[in-house]
Amino acid sequence: MRDAAPTTIYLKDYTPFGYLVDSVHLTFDLAPNATRVTSRIKFRPNPEATDRTFFLHGEELNLIRAAIDGEVITPEITAEGLTATVPDAPFIWEAVVEIDPANNTALEGLYMSNGMYCTQCEAEGFRKITYYPDRPDVMSTFTVRINGDLPVLLSNGNPSDKGEGWAEWVDPWPKPAYLFALVAGELIAHPGQFTTKSGRDVELNLWVRPGDEGKSAFGMEALKKSMKWDEDVYGREYDLDVFNIVAVDDFNMGAMENKGLNIFNSSAVLASPETSTDANFERIEAIIAHEYFHNWTGNRITCRDWFQLCLKEGLTVFRDAQFTSDMRSAPVKRIHDAIDLRARQFPEDNGPLSHPVRPESFQEINNFYTSTIYEKGAEVIGMLKCLVGDEAYSEALDLYFDRHDGQACTIEDWLQVFEETTGRDLSQFKRWYNQSGTPRVSVAEDWADGTYTLTLSQRTEPTPGQEDKQPQVIPVAVGLLGPNGDEVRVTKVLELTEAEQTFKFTGLAAKPVPSILRGFSAPVILEHDSTNAERAFLLAHDIDPFNRWQAGRSLAEDTLLRMITEEATPEADYLDGLLSVLRDETLDPAYRALMLGLPTQSELAAALHDKGITPDPMAIWRAAETLRQATAQHVQDLLPRLHSETLVDAPYQPDAEQSGKRALGSAALALTSRLDGGIKAAEEYAHANNMTQQLTSLSCLLRAGKGEAELAAFYDQWQHDRLVMDKWFALQVSMAGPETTVETASKLTEHPDFNWKNPNRFRALMGSLVGNHAGFHQTDGAGYALLADWLIRLDPVNPQTTARMCSAFQTWKRYDANRQALIRKQLNRIAETPGLSRDSTEMVSRILG
Ligand code: ARG
Ligand code: ZN
Repeated sequence: MRDAAPTTIYLKDYTPFGYLVDSVHLTFDLAPNATRVTSRIKFRPNPEATDRTFFLHGEELNLIRAAIDGEVITPEITAEGLTATVPDAPFIWEAVVEIDPANNTALEGLYMSNGMYCTQCEAEGFRKITYYPDRPDVMSTFTVRINGDLPVLLSNGNPSDKGEGWAEWVDPWPKPAYLFALVAGELIAHPGQFTTKSGRDVELNLWVRPGDEGKSAFGMEALKKSMKWDEDVYGREYDLDVFNIVAVDDFNMGAMENKGLNIFNSSAVLASPETSTDANFERIEAIIAHEYFHNWTGNRITCRDWFQLCLKEGLTVFRDAQFTSDMRSAPVKRIHDAIDLRARQFPEDNGPLSHPVRPESFQEINNFYTSTIYEKGAEVIGMLKCLVGDEAYSEALDLYFDRHDGQACTIEDWLQVFEETTGRDLSQFKRWYNQSGTPRVSVAEDWADGTYTLTLSQRTEPTPGQEDKQPQVIPVAVGLLGPNGDEVRVTKVLELTEAEQTFKFTGLAAKPVPSILRGFSAPVILEHDSTNAERAFLLAHDIDPFNRWQAGRSLAEDTLLRMITEEATPEADYLDGLLSVLRDETLDPAYRALMLGLPTQSELAAALHDKGITPDPMAIWRAAETLRQATAQHVQDLLPRLHSETLVDAPYQPDAEQSGKRALGSAALALTSRLDGGIKAAEEYAHANNMTQQLTSLSCLLRAGKGEAELAAFYDQWQHDRLVMDKWFALQVSMAGPETTVETASKLTEHPDFNWKNPNRFRALMGSLVGNHAGFHQTDGAGYALLADWLIRLDPVNPQTTARMCSAFQTWKRYDANRQALIRKQLNRIAETPGLSRDSTEMVSRILG
């Protein structure tokens, strides 16, 4: 039972634990409903602590026996843990507890998925396995013995011994309990091998369930590339004899970096050309890298407390982004990241859930695995690198690894290594960690006597708990273009540190066109009232690939906003600019495909709200449809050629080159379908031989109001494959028209394959409902009610996934009074549900404000 009474934890209250742990020995006697966990832990008083209360976390545990130095004791037990009286000297704690993994539907602690035992301990799941100081600053070596009648028995570290029905593992590297992992089941290994640069032979395995053998090769290759890259770029070597990855179908998040035993949501690791899209492959490569990179940024150097979560997550996201840029196309990756940040982080940072990259308080830490901590946390590191330069960045990182190896650290430790290596005062920069909200940078220009003057000002709107904002250090990369499109001033990073600052460029022959925030050099909202003629000029000439794309994006947004608010027709500047970009065969197909993208309808709603206009989701939807149709007509002559780019002759490869071509081909097919009613898409579906093609053509058909037969055929073909069935559910809800979205979603909840307790399946359906902006926001409120019904149903089963999905309502104050009232009603209904989890209680109360 979860205690729903909200207790708030504060960063300022941090104190070290009163005891150090010298070693942990765990024995698991596995049984689905009654697993016994026997612990033998060496404690000793912590000389650096003043509080000697011996409190061990423990939840939902059935304590069978507890002893100190061999003597049985009766500790005081509450719903959160136990307290005992202990000697003022080193002692041995022993406990036997019983747990019920088969009925653990929350997927936190030790649970079962398709007959396989697995664990998820981050952030505070270890306390559901045994009594322990479950906090990241308590680190120890672990020895684990698993007794169980299953062929594969895995834990952290190196295997030390095994026999029929048992195995023992020793992890020599001290770690916090959140990195503990155990897996037991009938699994098949896809083996691999890696020799580190200093000559350590590492045995690699990617473990999957029988039937999934054909989907592990790509993950294994991604792992090897990641290991090599971390050696080459960061000088970081792997430190055990084995590295295991396991795929699990029921998992709340993407994956988990447990020491030597990464556990993955199967959607984040299993891949084959027939079942996975190009986007799936790219995401899997990035997540494999992410979890592997955690071995140094997270495991060897961990967090002192959960307020420092961005210390490992921001840095590891930054590292995996660098990896993807190196493996694929750097400009494309940067554009993807900006799209993603605007779609997910900006709404969070500009709404009721806004919180600093390093929060100061929380009720349920699982609610803080957010895109602010992860993605904005990574952007902050990108800015730091941009400000200090590449060389200083490497130097600081070397010092960080050197100095803090084996420690549990803070953001202060992190910034300190930069201050020491560069001599820079980073106190103002630190505001990026403490201050929430997205800074807005506005631009004013002046031109006289050969001098171009750029005045940049910054402001950040108040966010919950933070009324007054201080100016931040914002690196604004700027280049200048002359009238003929040549670059007359190369990229320079302007450091905006004041509320308003002026920068001068002298000796220019003519008034330049500025290219501002090149490479998306800071995660800010740029407010620049440039003309569409200037945007079209940048779209044609900017040599910064990010800003060239951005120019097209701004044109698209401007024309859409005018179409919505002034009933304007699609802007010629946009359509012509797009046409010439699409014609330019010197441009990477992936890049041209990105040019064809539009801002999401939710982003347009935010942009309208920013201008003081209440967004009407149907008007936004109509404008987007109209612009799409106009685009299709405008580039019509080019479509057959663009589409033929999809036809890659070579065998399928999920690499940047082929997937870029397919992306452009898919975008062309989508436009073509608006003109031919889906004829071409139906042909393509009929001969599709990979999932990217199959899914693209099917989505074109559905959008055109066709594809019923194909949808049924798809179901028959893929019924046996859980990951593909997730796509089948998601696609129908995403592609439904606004008036039929809720009905489609609602009908699908009755489908026998809607296994709603599986987080992937739940998200496929409900996440797509929320993502279908105009459908979700129908004025009758049916979308809100349907989602709330299911959140209420899921909460007692899986609070974590429920709480995360509550954020669907975070933007509610953008909309009209009617919609607000409808959403408020659902939020109140969730809030008033008896026994609502701590997770969802916190989310709903923050959203209600
Ligand atoms: N540390 C993991 C990662 O980013 C995320 C795990 C978080 N899980 C959770 N239930 N809060 O790779
Ligand atoms: Zn991570």
